[in-house]
Amino acid sequence: MYEEIEKSKKLLKAGESDSALDILFNLLEKASNFNDREKVCTDIAKIYILKNDYTKAVEKLGDFFDDLKMSIFLDNIDEYITENNKDRVKNILLNNFEIFKKKIILKSKPSSMLVILTEKCNLKCIMCESVKNNYTVPENVLTDIINHMKYFERLTCLGGEVFLYDKFNVLVENAKKFDAELGICTNALLLGKNISMFENMKASIGVSVDGFDKDTYEKIRINGNFDVLTENLEILKQSIQKESFKQTRTLLHVVIMNINYKQIRQAFDFALKYNFGALNFLKLNSSFQYMPNEQEMEYAICQINECMDIIEKEKYNIQIFTDPNLNVFRENQKNLYNNNNIKRSDLGIRCNVPWKNIAINSDSDVYFECRCDCKHFEKFETIEKSWNGLPVQSIRQAIIDGNYIEPCKDCSILY
Ligand SMILES: C[S@@+](CC[C@H](N)C(=O)[O-])C[C@H]1O[C@@H](n2cnc3c(N)ncnc32)[C@H](O)[C@@H]1O
Ligand code: SF4
Ligand code: SF4
Repeated sequence: MYEEIEKSKKLLKAGESDSALDILFNLLEKASNFNDREKVCTDIAKIYILKNDYTKAVEKLGDFFDDLKMSIFLDNIDEYITENNKDRVKNILLNNFEIFKKKIILKSKPSSMLVILTEKCNLKCIMCESVKNNYTVPENVLTDIINHMKYFERLTCLGGEVFLYDKFNVLVENAKKFDAELGICTNALLLGKNISMFENMKASIGVSVDGFDKDTYEKIRINGNFDVLTENLEILKQSIQKESFKQTRTLLHVVIMNINYKQIRQAFDFALKYNFGALNFLKLNSSFQYMPNEQEMEYAICQINECMDIIEKEKYNIQIFTDPNLNVFRENQKNLYNNNNIKRSDLGIRCNVPWKNIAINSDSDVYFECRCDCKHFEKFETIEKSWNGLPVQSIRQAIIDGNYIEPCKDCSILY
C-alpha cells in the first residue's frame, strides 16, 4: 500500500492530481481495515484541498475524524492550500466538517455576511422603504466585520447607497487584502467615479435599474437621471473588459411593478447591451400600490420565460435569476433560487445557510441573506454572539431534525 501511496505522491508533485487520485481510489477499494482506509482518505482529502474542492475533502474525512484529529489535520495542510488566504480555507474546511458532524454550536466563523452600511441615498425611489432613517453602521460593527474579513468568502454591502458611507473604502481595502469577494447593490449613479476601487479584487456589482427608457426610469427612480445612468454603465462595461477587472461579476436588478411589467424584454436587451453577467428579477416586498395585478404578473413571467428561451437558443452568456416568490420554475431554477451567491445544500443537510451566513439590517436585526423576505430572528450584538446565539442554534437543530421553524418554516428549499 505504501508503495502505491508514494507513487501517487510523485504524480501529485508532477502536477498530475487526477492520476494521483485514481491510484488512491483504487487503493481505497482494496483497503479493508479502518486505519488503512483513514490513511488513504486523508491523502485523497489533501488532493481535493489542492483542487479547491473543500466539500469533497471533508466528505472523505468526516467518517474518520473527531474534533482533535480535524484540528491536527488543519495544522498540517499548508502545503496543499493554493489560495493565498489560508485562514479562510481552513475555516471553510472546519465549517464543512462541523456541518458534516451536524453541530449546532460552531467553532468555525461565518463564511459570508451581508450588512446594511447606510440608509443615506441620492435617490427616492417610489417603491423603496430602505431609506427611512439616517442610519449608518456603528463603528464597533465595522471593526467586527473587518476582524472577520479573513474568514469571509464574500461580504455583501447594501444601503441606501454604499458610496455615501464614508468608510466604504476601508471595507473594500480589507476585502481586497484578504481576497474576499465584495458584493454591492447600487443605483450606479455614483459608480463611474468610484469604479477604480474594485480593480484587482473579487467584486460583484449589482445595479438596480427598474425602468428601461428615460421616462419610466425617472418616474420610478426619483432624482435619478437616465443619461447619467447610461454613461456610468458604459464606464462599467468598458472597465470589466480590462484585465484588472477580470474578477468582477455584474448583475442587473429589476423589481417588477405595475409601471414596468411590460419592460421585461427591454430589461433583457439592456442587460445584453451593457454586458451584464446576470439579470435578476425581484418581487416587490412593500409599497404594494405598485404591485402588478395577476394578469400583469402573468405577462411579466411569460416574458421572463421568453428571455430564458432566447438565452438557451442563442447561447447568450447571461443568466437570469428570479425571486422564488415569482414562481418561475425552470430546470435549474431551484439551484439558483433567489440569491445566487449562496449554495444551499451539501454535506447531508437540506439547507446549510444557517451554518454559513449572517446578515444584519439597519435595525440591528439578524437574519440570513438567502431570501429577501427572510424573517429576522435576533437583535445583533456581535458576530461572535449572534453566530452561536440560541435562536440560530434552534434554527440549525430544526433543520437537522426536519422540524422546521421560522424563518425556514415554509421555505421551498427544504421540501
Ligand atoms: C434598497 S436597494 C439598496 C441598494 C441601492 N440603493 C439600489 O437601489 O440598488 C436594494 C435593492 O432593493 C430593491 N428594492 C427597493 N425597494 C424594493 C421593494 N419595495 N421591494 C423589493 N425590492 C426593492 C432595489 O431596487 C435594489 O435592487
Ligand atoms: S436607490 Fe436604492 S436605496 Fe435609494 S431609494 Fe432607490 S432603491 Fe432605495
Ligand atoms: S429560509 Fe430557506 S434558504 Fe433561508 S436558511 Fe431557511 S431554509 Fe435556508
